[in-house]
Amino acid sequence: MAARPSVLRAAVRVSRPRHSPCNFCSSQHTQQLFSTTPRNQHPETASRTTTPNSHSQTTTPPDDAVRHGTTHFGFQDGLSETEKTERVAGVFHSVAESYDRMNDLMSFGWHRIWKDHFVSSLNPGLSSSSPPKPQRILDVAGGTGDIAFRMLHHAHTINANPSVHVTISDINASMLAVGKQRSLTLPASQQASLSFLEMDATSIPPSLIPDNSYDLYTVAFGIRNFSNVPAALAQARRVLKPGGVFACLEFSKVTNAVLDAAYKRWSFSAIPLIGQLVAGDRDSYQYLVESIERFPSQQEFRRMIQEAGFEVGGQGYEDLTGGVAAIHKGMKPL
Ligand SMILES: C[S@@+](CC[C@H](N)C(=O)[O-])C[C@H]1O[C@@H](n2cnc3c(N)ncnc32)[C@H](O)[C@@H]1O
Repeated sequence: MAARPSVLRAAVRVSRPRHSPCNFCSSQHTQQLFSTTPRNQHPETASRTTTPNSHSQTTTPPDDAVRHGTTHFGFQDGLSETEKTERVAGVFHSVAESYDRMNDLMSFGWHRIWKDHFVSSLNPGLSSSSPPKPQRILDVAGGTGDIAFRMLHHAHTINANPSVHVTISDINASMLAVGKQRSLTLPASQQASLSFLEMDATSIPPSLIPDNSYDLYTVAFGIRNFSNVPAALAQARRVLKPGGVFACLEFSKVTNAVLDAAYKRWSFSAIPLIGQLVAGDRDSYQYLVESIERFPSQQEFRRMIQEAGFEVGGQGYEDLTGGVAAIHKGMKPL
């Protein structure tokens, strides 16, 4: 794991009412997160879900498009959610094989530092009891496994806690296939703590993941691709245990105007070109850049998280590299 760079500020801590801070924000919390809820069965086999979201959504749609029943794909407006889901699927089917290499090229390797920091800030596997309490983590839009593998590494080697299970879920079978292949290089004990689940994060059937199942829900660089972000947040709240933590790493809004201008110039000119040259796919990388631009600001996204029923502590987010990316956290109330 790379060392934390000084540009990354200390982790945002989700404020915990009463006496039960969490195991995922490296502060002095008791173990409420892992206390009473029984462990759930986790399907080992893939199962594509098409069941509509059965949970009422009390959240505010992210923008006018969603409010009027349509959404967007990059800069294109007026798509139905189904159309967006299909087009996003096309993008990630297309980029799956080159995804990891392209991430390095596009971000100059920064995505690794952000992911390391994201996982360290959540401190998976931290437990004050002996033996350590089991912990169940759902990594949504987990793609090729970058976050899940870091979670397992951190829990097993840094916190010496093998009773952490991570489910990598993704809507896209091609991304999961690359992840499965990559997972074969993990130590056997970590492989045994990993499962894969093909599902749409915006409509998770309770038969697939019951309410109050997980201690931690992570989503990294995935949520901006979802056709209905409030629906995904409602599902996150549903599947988390009371006291469980929602944690999101996503591209965000650069706070400094000069850096923002340079970043936009780089994104819109270089990234589609690199995509064309390296992956033979300009359009998918054009979409990725546009989807970053369309994603809400840090403050707007924090509001959406709160409106989904999460408690947010302090500022509620942490900017990384001047806001190129940001970490948001929220806690499901006890
Ligand atoms: C940019 S990749 C991120 C992968 C990984 N989390 C990472 O940080 O490297 C975005 C992922 O979101 C997935 N995705 C898009 N829409 C989704 C949805 N509705 N439900 C679940 N996953 C989705 C894509 O298939 C893709 O694997």
